[in-house]
Amino acid sequence: MSVLKGKHIVLGITGGIAAYKSASLLRLFVRAGAEVQVVMTPSAREFITPVTLSALSGKPVVSEFFTANTGEWHSHVDLGLWADAMVIAPATACTIAKMANGVADNMLVTTYLSAREPVFVAPAMDLDMMAHPSTLRNLDLLRSYGNHVIEPAEGELASHLVGKGRMEEPEGIFRYLEEYFERRVAVENSPLKGRKVLITGGPTVERIDPVRFISNFSTGKMAFAMADEAARRGAEVTVVAGPTVAVPADSRVRVVRVESALEMLDACRREFPASDVAVMCAAVADYRVANPASAKIKREGHEPPHLELVANPDIAATLGAEKRPGQILVGFALETDNGPANAMGKMERKNLDMVVLNSLADKGAGFSTDTNRVSIFRRGVVEPLVFPLKPKTEVAADILNVIETL
Ligand code: PMT
Repeated sequence: MSVLKGKHIVLGITGGIAAYKSASLLRLFVRAGAEVQVVMTPSAREFITPVTLSALSGKPVVSEFFTANTGEWHSHVDLGLWADAMVIAPATACTIAKMANGVADNMLVTTYLSAREPVFVAPAMDLDMMAHPSTLRNLDLLRSYGNHVIEPAEGELASHLVGKGRMEEPEGIFRYLEEYFERRVAVENSPLKGRKVLITGGPTVERIDPVRFISNFSTGKMAFAMADEAARRGAEVTVVAGPTVAVPADSRVRVVRVESALEMLDACRREFPASDVAVMCAAVADYRVANPASAKIKREGHEPPHLELVANPDIAATLGAEKRPGQILVGFALETDNGPANAMGKMERKNLDMVVLNSLADKGAGFSTDTNRVSIFRRGVVEPLVFPLKPKTEVAADILNVIETL
């Protein structure tokens, strides 16, 4: 049974060639058991007739503020309260601009401005309009308001030999909504609700002198994506983070800032006893300078210094040794080669319950990118779960989904 059964959907249709595809989208929603109210802009009526749409939805189509012959008023506020989702497909450059800037001169944009439900926008226009800086800025504005912009995947565009601006196919839009509501159900029923989750993130910084240090390229993006997702699932989240520019988007996430591996270890040992789940995502420097200089090391008149390094403690292994029954400890493995064997080895040595392997050999994976590609190894299970390249926000959801099954 579709998760969209019984959902109330406002389907906004604007005046573009792709408007004919809205009929197929409407049919998919209705077949899944959703109730659909169509709202059209006046120019959309030039592309598809309201009669077709009202026959498919079983409801009169709304396109004006009131019905001319009866004077019946259509309340955009009531529509907003009724709806569980608003989908605007196709969304022309003009409607996108109006939505981005609050130009409420028709029923569709007025309904959008009153909407409290999630809004999904499927742009449709020609290549040049789509590439214009004003369209791109307006789409960014919509995203910044929390709206979902649904576009065909890059690979799909290439295989269809058509350019950007083509509307995502009705099946793709339908699937996007199904996945959105499936995720929402999963989040509402998450076993992480009320649980304490500790996450380490970012790099550690090991001082050479007051101005120089040893570190790595970690940005904290992966760790904060997991923190935001865990908070969304109702967990009480603490991130012990090395120096990063990135911050969590969710204000409920508590961040404990540290600089070095030794400071990170201290903070983790304080937090871990009260935690139900700990995820070690930080890229901890394996070595620190044995005796950092207290004043800046001078270049002039000096030989290059020889730095003596000592090993940092292994934070994950320390927590692994202190783990109580019932606590879940998850590690990451960042590899360049021999990934699976190294990941399994780390699981054993550090007493982890699960290891998330990412490899610098994969384009778009690992440090600093907004995407990642992971394989997940679980204790006692031979076969890893292998995931494709995805935004780190989605990778975070995949990782937490697996943690929820442990
Ligand atoms: O921050 P981003 O730019 O988004 O990049 C994300 C990431 C690539 C840093 C992340 O996905 C990741 O792979 N983190 C772990 C990096 C790492 O140090 O891997 P490792 O294979 O060296 O370490 C194995 C595990 O032991 C990790 O869980 C690590 O946190 C932990 N460890 C390592 C050394 C140490 N001294 N203490 C530790 O706790």
